[in-house]
Amino acid sequence: MNNKKKIFLSVLPATVAATIISMSTGSMAADSDPIKVGVMLPFSGVYAGLGESTRNGLKQAIKEQGNNIAGRPVEFIEMDTEAKPARAPEITSSLVDNQQADFVIGPVHSGVAMGMIKSIKGKDSIMIIPNAGANAATGAFCQPNVFRTSFSSWQTAFPMGKEAYDMGYKKIVTMSWNYGFGKESLEAFNESFTKAGGEVIKEMLVPFPKTEFQSYLTEIASINPDAVFVFFAGGGAVKFVKDYDAMGLKGKIPLLGSGFLTEGTTTAQGPAAEEVITTLHYADALDIPKNKHFRQDYETLYGKPADLFAVQGYDAGQLIAQAVTATQGNTSDKAALIEQMEQLEIDSPRGAFHFSKSHNPIQTIYLRKVVDGQNTVVKVAHENLEDPARGCRL
Ligand code: PHB
Repeated sequence: MNNKKKIFLSVLPATVAATIISMSTGSMAADSDPIKVGVMLPFSGVYAGLGESTRNGLKQAIKEQGNNIAGRPVEFIEMDTEAKPARAPEITSSLVDNQQADFVIGPVHSGVAMGMIKSIKGKDSIMIIPNAGANAATGAFCQPNVFRTSFSSWQTAFPMGKEAYDMGYKKIVTMSWNYGFGKESLEAFNESFTKAGGEVIKEMLVPFPKTEFQSYLTEIASINPDAVFVFFAGGGAVKFVKDYDAMGLKGKIPLLGSGFLTEGTTTAQGPAAEEVITTLHYADALDIPKNKHFRQDYETLYGKPADLFAVQGYDAGQLIAQAVTATQGNTSDKAALIEQMEQLEIDSPRGAFHFSKSHNPIQTIYLRKVVDGQNTVVKVAHENLEDPARGCRL
C-alpha cells in the first residue's frame, strides 16, 4: 500500500477502512480519470456569502484527501446560480448531460433546488444538497440520487416553537421572505408553537430578495407582540438584525429565528446581534474536537471564521470522499455509490450523523444565543431529530 493511501485510510471510520484494506488485494479500479464535481452555488446576489462558505468547506474536505480520491483527481466545474430558480434547469442539464458530472453539489436556495431535482431525476449523476431546506427535496420529491448534508426547513424551525413557548412567549409575530423555504420555516414554527399553546398573531412575508424592512418593523412595534420569530439569511439577515436594533425594537421585543439569522453574519451585525436566540444543527462554539480542528484549518486556509454553510459544504466533500473510497474509485456504478452513501456515518463538525431513509441528516438541534459575536449553545433543543419526510416513498 502506498503512503498516500495509508494517510487517507487513517481518517476513515474503522469499518470502512477495514473494507478497503480487504478489497485492496483484489483488482483496483483502473479508472484514473478525474472525478467530476459540478458546483451550483450563488456566487453573486444576497446569498453570495453562503455560496462562498459552502465552496470553501467543500474544497477543504477534498484538500484533506490531497485532492485525490482512490487514485483519481477531483475536477470542479463551478456555476453561479445567482439564487435564481429560473437558472436551475439549464445549468443542471449542462452539468449532467453535457459534462456528465459524477456529482452535482448545490444549491443554497430552495427554489433552485426544486428546479435541479426535476432536471436530475433519473439521470446518472448524484446531487448533494449542501444547504437548501425545501421539505419536498427529501419529502414528496425525494429521489434515489438526491442526498442532503444540510437540513429540511422543518428541522430548523420546528424545535423553536416549543422553546419560545417555554420561554414564556404566548403571542408572536412571524416574518420571512416570501418563498418556499421561508414559508415552510414559519409553518414548522407555527406547528410546534400552537401545539404548545401559543398563538401567531400576525405573519409577514417580504418579497425575496428585498431588504427594505422599515415599514414591517413599524407595524411590529405597533402590534407589540411578546416576541418575533423570523427567517432571513446572508445579506438580508445582516440588514434585518441591524434595522431591528436601529428602529429601537432590540431590548423591547425579543428576536428569535432559525439559526441562519446569525450564521456567518455576526461580524457584520456587530452589537445588534447580541442576545439573539435561534435554533440550528450547529454552533460555532460546539465543544467537539472535530469542530475545533475544522474551524482552525478553515481559518488557516481562508483567513476568516467558518460558519454552518462551510460545515455543510465540508460534509458534502466528506461524503464524496468516503463513498468513492468505498467503491475503490468506481463512480460509473451509481447504484453502488448510492448504496454506500446510504450507510455512511459522516464525522461532521456538528457531530457525527447518518442519513434517514429519505437521504436527509438525522441530527441534533441546538438552542443558541449570540454572546460576544459567537453563536453559543444554550442547550440541546432536540436530540437526533429526524425529518418526517412527508410523502417520500424511498
Ligand atoms: C433555502 O432557500 O432553502 C435557504 C436559503 C438560505 C438559508 C437557509 C435556507 O440560510
